[in-house]
Amino acid sequence: MTTVETESSREKLLVGITPEMRMDLRIRAAELGLNVQDAATHALALWYETPVTEGVAVKGAKSWGVFLPKGGPTRFDEECQRRNLAKVQGMAQAVTNWLAKHPSPTQRLLSQPVKRILVALQKGGVGKSFLAAGLAQAFAEAGLRVLLIDYDPQGHMTRRLGYQTLSSKNDNSLLQHMLGQARKHIKRILINVEGKRFGNRLHLLPACTDAFLFDAVMSSVRHGREETLARALEPIEAEYDVIVIDGPPSLGLSMDIAMHYVHRREGELAERSGIVMPVWADTPSFEAYDLFDGQRKDLMKGTRVQIDELGFVINHYDSRRGASPQAKKAEWEERGAPGVLAVFSDLKEQREATDDHIPLFEYAPNCELTDGLRNLAKELAA
Ligand SMILES: Nc1ncnc2c1ncn2[C@@H]1O[C@H](COP(=O)(O)OP(=O)(O)OP(=O)(O)O)[C@@H](O)[C@H]1O
Ligand SMILES: [Mg+2]
Repeated sequence: MTTVETESSREKLLVGITPEMRMDLRIRAAELGLNVQDAATHALALWYETPVTEGVAVKGAKSWGVFLPKGGPTRFDEECQRRNLAKVQGMAQAVTNWLAKHPSPTQRLLSQPVKRILVALQKGGVGKSFLAAGLAQAFAEAGLRVLLIDYDPQGHMTRRLGYQTLSSKNDNSLLQHMLGQARKHIKRILINVEGKRFGNRLHLLPACTDAFLFDAVMSSVRHGREETLARALEPIEAEYDVIVIDGPPSLGLSMDIAMHYVHRREGELAERSGIVMPVWADTPSFEAYDLFDGQRKDLMKGTRVQIDELGFVINHYDSRRGASPQAKKAEWEERGAPGVLAVFSDLKEQREATDDHIPLFEYAPNCELTDGLRNLAKELAA
């Protein structure tokens, strides 16, 4: 039974709906930032354009009132009559259809390709390894399956997490896989990063000293050089929700290949994968970024792909050092796109965790840095 009441510019539709469906609609609307009335209005608009919809179980439906734009209840009545359907069935079809077309952000994450994040800037010591390792730990703690790649031949991150780098005699390194010359499965070199918070979900692809030869070796690869990292990782990508790369400390071919790896894939949402750039609140960081950004743009032009910047992270920030860091921080913030995602101070926990070769989230799980990394991971996971 449908009755029509008028309330300002909207009209109330009374219709049966199962409590489960009503709750699903309310939750999904909230996840997508809509109120229930707008979600129901969208659902009906979509249903009017959908010629045939399968029958949906409506047992246990209870009366539900929802305000639609003027004329909405009448239009719904007419459409149900035209389709020779009970209104409870019409609404159930519309809501089911809408829920399927508008998955929750967590389902959407799973239905999208693996999220690829490169943490990079060629300037030395800005905090690439800190940020890459910290983000990976935060993602894993939050329940995501994470592959963390030490793409820097120096292998700082591998050692700081408490593991050994591979020797250049190893014939199963990432470089060997990129060149198509490895004999074993790439899974064989992955390390399960121990830690009760990571639940066996955090895997490290360790650095290998042969990566010092990276650019020299890669320069002789004539075709498909940019695709080499994607090819090497292809056999294991599907096992992860997020892949985080600790970028190289130079602007050579290895950087081109890493940047290309995180380009936006067909059908992938904008700014879902891309580059996070740690910077300091100082002039050399601006100069370094300008060079970095120039390389990204040249690469996009040359290879016709979109490489998204996800944002800056200001690291080692110390406002007590006077007006200059404060002014430089404001300058990063005023740049607008891609925006500052987070600001981290220089804190003893990271230095101590580094010295002790223990993952930060194990060494000091509740400190300002881990809290900040958790928030950043939450934002990037969305
Ligand atoms: N927010 C922080 N608080 C305290 N120590 C930090 C912080 N960020 C980074 N560090 C420390 O500063 C040093 C340099 O940082 P990190 O190694 O992450 O920089 P990087 O950009 O990876 O350097 P490289 O160019 O050598 O690869 C490390 O010892 C690291 O543990
Ligand atoms: Mg590093």
